[in-house]
Amino acid sequence: MRWLLAGYCGLALINISVALQISQKPRFYGVMTGRPYVMIFCTSSKQQLAAGVKWYKVNEHDEDEEKRIRINAQRGKFELHDKNLTKDGVLQINDLRATDTGVYFCKMNDTWGPGTEVQVARPILRDKALYRTNMKDGLIVLQGLLLAACIAAALLRKRGMGEKNDSIYEEPETDHIYEGLAIETCGGGLYEELSVYAQPEGAEAPWE
Ligand SMILES: *[C@@H]1O[C@H](CO)[C@@H](O)[C@H](O)[C@H]1NC(C)=O
Repeated sequence: MRWLLAGYCGLALINISVALQISQKPRFYGVMTGRPYVMIFCTSSKQQLAAGVKWYKVNEHDEDEEKRIRINAQRGKFELHDKNLTKDGVLQINDLRATDTGVYFCKMNDTWGPGTEVQVARPILRDKALYRTNMKDGLIVLQGLLLAACIAAALLRKRGMGEKNDSIYEEPETDHIYEGLAIETCGGGLYEELSVYAQPEGAEAPWE
């Protein structure tokens, strides 16, 4: 059993070393529309052997193999070049447009390459970009002002709270006012008693 396993592993290793290794160069292109051309190279681990390459395009990297569309050398858009013994080993994409965005795969002797992503972006108009930067600067200044206002408001509020706190601290004195009133009512009684002695005019004071 062990020997069988070891044998399988050995066979697998041999298979890997024998299997065709395909690489693509480069793996990514990020370009602007209107670029005259880009080139993708498809090379194998056995460059001394003759081989034929077919090229395919797909819109998303993880789309199924069946969805890969074969690229035919159309006059103008695509050109295929031989490299050493590899027929059509180089794909040239001309006059790049946004619609050329996608992933390009080469297939050499029925073995797929890893794929090259091409992203074609429209250039942003300069004036628009400048306007956006100015706008951004303006917003940053505005933000700064708002922040300053907020801090000022917070500080003022804090001060106001402090004053309020003082008045709250003094508030218990209202109790004293009520106490005083209670005393005054007593005083009212006293005045009444005094009024008893306050005789109508003409009355002689008892001490006269
Ligand atoms: C590709 O296939 C051809 C024909 O079967 C063969 O002669 C050639 O050696 C292969 N090339 C590679 C790189 O495996």
